[in-house]
Amino acid sequence: MTGIAGRHVVLGVSGGIASYKACVVARRLTEEGALVDVVVTAAASEFIRPVTFEALTGRPVVTSLWEPGRALDHVRLGREPDLIVVAPATAQLIARMAQGMADDFLTALLLARRAPVLLCPAMNDHMYAHPETQANLKRLRAPGLVVLGPATGRLAYGEGEGPGRMVEPEEICVHAERLLRAGPPFAGRRVVVTAGPSREALDPVRVVTNRSSGRMGYALASAAWRRGAEVTLIAGPGALAAPGGVSLVRFDSTADLAAALADVLPSADVLIMAAAPADYRPSAPAGAKIPRSGPLTVKLEPTLDVLAETMSRRRAGAVVVGFALETGDPIPAAREKLVRKQLDLVVANDAAEAGAGPEVETNRVALVTRDGVEQLALMSKEAVAEQVLDRVALLLSRRG
Ligand code: CTP
Repeated sequence: MTGIAGRHVVLGVSGGIASYKACVVARRLTEEGALVDVVVTAAASEFIRPVTFEALTGRPVVTSLWEPGRALDHVRLGREPDLIVVAPATAQLIARMAQGMADDFLTALLLARRAPVLLCPAMNDHMYAHPETQANLKRLRAPGLVVLGPATGRLAYGEGEGPGRMVEPEEICVHAERLLRAGPPFAGRRVVVTAGPSREALDPVRVVTNRSSGRMGYALASAAWRRGAEVTLIAGPGALAAPGGVSLVRFDSTADLAAALADVLPSADVLIMAAAPADYRPSAPAGAKIPRSGPLTVKLEPTLDVLAETMSRRRAGAVVVGFALETGDPIPAAREKLVRKQLDLVVANDAAEAGAGPEVETNRVALVTRDGVEQLALMSKEAVAEQVLDRVALLLSRRG
């Protein structure tokens, strides 16, 4: 999470077993610099004492409409914040909201609200499936109200076959970040990110591949989504989990990558080519497993340069970012790729440098554009992703 410092969030907590997880939400948002005002219902304060939230956020917690000196606070807290998160939202809270009730501080502020709402239902799976609850949720559907979850998984009572469980705090926080950061230039833009290695078949069981982990591309996809973009991640083989909210398309060979890209390219406002597709592939893959018998010579042929191939099919005004991974000074090659592949930005790094390149969690890159070269310090791939997207944001807003 990033980019939410100084933003004002109201966290409404209603009373259910999942109330304890609201503590993690309050803590994570506060850690990122948000000002978090927690409002607990009477039932929630049976599960978690308000003082816990006070300690986590460093701010007073609101528990009742009737506290002295706070007569109009439900209106103020409905209007001032940038976002209202309700986690957990119990069946009871949802029912009261759907009826437009204002019988406690939380429902009153929800009725007076101007800020967008992220509502995270949590309840027994039968309570969630009940037609009354479903009808209440339907009634609440409105622009500016996002319902996140519930998830399917273990519930407090029984095995819980159906949805009912509150979405995990970390996921709630990244959705909160997306809502807080939504706006130009990323909101509503289509961003395509490619990530990971390709595999080129040698025979039915063996492949030629490379050391790319895909981490850089996954970090870029996740960061672009958190900034409000619609993101497609086209990812090669690897074990990384797809970032939430992002639509994932898998590729295996460089040819698969080219085909997957052809489908999404016409609508892409931004293309970030962080994948490491092979430059060569076996020219005649064997139809059966090659037996072991002395030295073997494999003939390789060049693959398609996918990024170069996209040149004539890119959407007019699209921002295109390439990567240049070299062993040695990457800047001359990055400059050459910028021109040859008609790119707006090349992220260059030296694979021979400690802490940079594939298989590690950090990177030290230079951002190469027509305006010049900016060398960044060694940082996590997540932090590199934010820097790259800051540059993309600049390029997008210049194009209007
Ligand atoms: N790339 C591509 N298709 C390939 C190989 C690379 O689209 N078959 C893309 C990469 O995703 C990256 C950029 O091109 O964004 C540069 O990749 P790199 O391997 O560094 O460069 P090449 O153009 O292959 O040049 P060279 O191998 O000569 O350095």
